[in-house]
Amino acid sequence: MSTETTANVKRVTATTFIEMKREGKPIAMLTAYDYPTALYLDKAGIDGILVGDSVAMVELGCETTLEATMDIMVHHTKAVRRGVKRALLVADLPFMSYQISTERALENAGRFVQEAGADAVKLEGGEVVADQIEAIVDAGIPVMGHLGMTPQSFHKFGGYGLQATTTEAARRLIDEALLLQDLGCFSVVLEKIPSELAALVSKKLAIPTIGIGAGVSCDGQVLVTHDMLGMFERFKPKFVKQYLQLGALIQQAFGEYIDDVRTKRFPAESHSYPMDPEVFAEIERMVQEER
Ligand code: KIV
Repeated sequence: MSTETTANVKRVTATTFIEMKREGKPIAMLTAYDYPTALYLDKAGIDGILVGDSVAMVELGCETTLEATMDIMVHHTKAVRRGVKRALLVADLPFMSYQISTERALENAGRFVQEAGADAVKLEGGEVVADQIEAIVDAGIPVMGHLGMTPQSFHKFGGYGLQATTTEAARRLIDEALLLQDLGCFSVVLEKIPSELAALVSKKLAIPTIGIGAGVSCDGQVLVTHDMLGMFERFKPKFVKQYLQLGALIQQAFGEYIDDVRTKRFPAESHSYPMDPEVFAEIERMVQEER
């Protein structure tokens, strides 16, 4: 398996992803938007970390991902970079950061690498963004594609429904997946498409498919971390497996703290700093004399 060594840590690269597919090793990815999450994901042995534009919804409370900007994404990618030693760090190009022109796409992909330390970038779409993908790949930046339910097209789709359900749409998705591979993408996210179709695409491609709501036959899986930790309450897609009810646990801890403060159970002696008795006696005397 090809890796780069940095301070005794074997880093996962875009090439590693392709080799993992060749070796039949499933690729595990999750999203992160901050330093501590990135740190724990990396320590747990995750293969890839995506700083998704989902940050807009799950961290910033926006209605859709469309409100994520390059400045927001760079800010969060920098924080994640500080926590990651081993995993492949992929930064998500947000809405309107790559659609307008190839130059803009290249400039923003470059910003992710140069300013934020990303290892690769992800963008949504197939043929319509072919020129942008080609230019970014030519500049030496690994690109992860994204097909199926692409959240930046929320308004076009009229929501977050299952995609590629007709023969025509499924055919188009297969052709676009092959196009992304030909353009030099090192992997492609398949979001919310029927499992059988994802299996077919995964078999046809030499690059790995990373599924989210696309069944078990994809070469890897990605989830939004807040979804799998139970930290996002607005809706829960069917494809999410919740490993923890972290939101409820956090709320319980906050409640206990509030109760402790109100009943003076916190802070205890163990959380407090005693003063040198002689210094205290002196200061107490001084204060009393002032009265
Ligand atoms: O923004 C994101 O988190 C994503 C994943 C859902 C793949 O694009």
